[in-house]
Amino acid sequence: MLRRLHHEQPESFAFTEANMKWAEGQISKYPEGRQASAIIPLLWRAQEQEGWLSQPAIEYVADLLGLAYIRALEVATFYFMFQLQPTGSVAHIQICGTTTCMICGAEDLIGVCKEKIAPKAHALSADGKFSWEEVECLGACANAPMAQIGKDYYEDLTAEGLAKLLDQLAAGEVPTPGSEIGRFSSEPAGGPVALKQWADDKLEHNASVALAVELGDTVKRIDGTEVPILTPWLNAKPATKPEGPAEKPVVEQEATPAAGKPADETGVTKQAAEAEATGKPEPAISVEAIEAAGEGEKPEALDGPRDGKADNLKEISGVGPKLESVLNEIGIYHFDQIAAWDAAQVAWADQNLVGFKGRVSRDDWVGQAQALASGDKDK
Ligand code: FES
Repeated sequence: MLRRLHHEQPESFAFTEANMKWAEGQISKYPEGRQASAIIPLLWRAQEQEGWLSQPAIEYVADLLGLAYIRALEVATFYFMFQLQPTGSVAHIQICGTTTCMICGAEDLIGVCKEKIAPKAHALSADGKFSWEEVECLGACANAPMAQIGKDYYEDLTAEGLAKLLDQLAAGEVPTPGSEIGRFSSEPAGGPVALKQWADDKLEHNASVALAVELGDTVKRIDGTEVPILTPWLNAKPATKPEGPAEKPVVEQEATPAAGKPADETGVTKQAAEAEATGKPEPAISVEAIEAAGEGEKPEALDGPRDGKADNLKEISGVGPKLESVLNEIGIYHFDQIAAWDAAQVAWADQNLVGFKGRVSRDDWVGQAQALASGDKDK
């Protein structure tokens, strides 16, 4: 199956305030320089918030972690748990179609989905409330056939039972997860023969179902306010992510061996020679000058955007929503500000825009900004 970005994408994505706090907690679990390891939980949270992963959401997470967009895209497109197209506004139904479920009636369940939701998997129902797909074994084989609806499992399903569940969900109800035929857990269908304490204690639900009922978020979009933020250390020390870009430690980087060195006796630099060979323009400020600037100098800041209207800095290749907000926080709002940076200011930005080290010179922001400020976007 081809996994591609959907042909229609929203304008933007941003975590809710609570989800951002949660994301910072996840990022703080990893050592400095290893924040990329948080990519799966962050992508998952973005999906929990929106119901699916849009391109802006993937790029937003990449920016948060200081990754090239392609790295986040690789993860999002590799794992089937990430939905790359809009899902139903109420629920996305995942029917297990693997061996045990298949011989116990999964095809009938898929028939219900085709009839009540949409003839094809991943398509939205006419009212936009539901979508469905067939998935591989979800590990509840003893209670086959089953479906994952939202975050919880519905087991021992029949076609009639699934149709009824969909009607209940469409009516705004959230049916109790678990076995349709009243099994407590995965004991034999004829009744338990061992570990019967729960029966003697007359417990109503097994632990999974009891938690699902308690949380009540089976098909709810997660905005971060539902569960406690499970990263208490964030209150005890500063988060790993930046409060202010200038406070991050500076890591010395090795100079690119050939940077700025003449390629031959004509005095043409390696970059210039490459630029000529590849047709790529030479950067506005040479790597040699930036390296010579050492720690550099913080660019001049504005108190706010001129006339209250900032330029769309995301037009600079390599600047996403997160990085744009970092720039705004340090008083950079306009293309002409970046266009005027000298080598020292680029060196400072390269080292202090936390999580995006080296991006400023690598992507030639100054050259791009000069082109954008002059209205020549194709340069
Ligand atoms: S085969 Fe369906 S849950 Fe395992």
